[in-house]
Amino acid sequence: MTIERTLSIIKPDATRRDLTGRINARFEEAGLKIVAQKRLRLTLEQAKAFYAVHAERAFYEDLCSYMCSGPIVVQVLEGENAIAQNREIMGATNPANADAGTIRAEFGESVEANSVHGSDASDTAVQEIAFFFSQIEIIP
Ligand code: CMP
Repeated sequence: MTIERTLSIIKPDATRRDLTGRINARFEEAGLKIVAQKRLRLTLEQAKAFYAVHAERAFYEDLCSYMCSGPIVVQVLEGENAIAQNREIMGATNPANADAGTIRAEFGESVEANSVHGSDASDTAVQEIAFFFSQIEIIP
């Protein structure tokens, strides 16, 4: 059994529609524990730093502006195979391609406003968690 942690973000399109509770119910019902959480609004500089890995992509500027357009909820999910499990619960990046029953299929508005972000691998999970949280803010 591999207990992992992953970074989860509830994006501005979802906070705007008051979907935080419904989204987090999906994680908790699947056995993922929310061990750290905060609501904040990113500056453009912070969004650009967080998504720096996509800096060369055509969608980077729009994505960063969008992520600053309203409040987000950042959180750490912990559980068995949390990284893969979270990605399964979220569904494909583009809501149009997401399996029925996933968060993005049910709530996503577009590939950009796709309601949630989740770390894609163990090294990025470590980096992304450290971007938002210090160790004393993570309480299993
Ligand atoms: P996320 O999991 O937050 O990681 C990067 C984000 O870029 C992704 O979700 C999408 O919301 C966003 N994005 C915008 N356009 C695209 C695109 N054409 N392909 C992939 N991701 C995109």
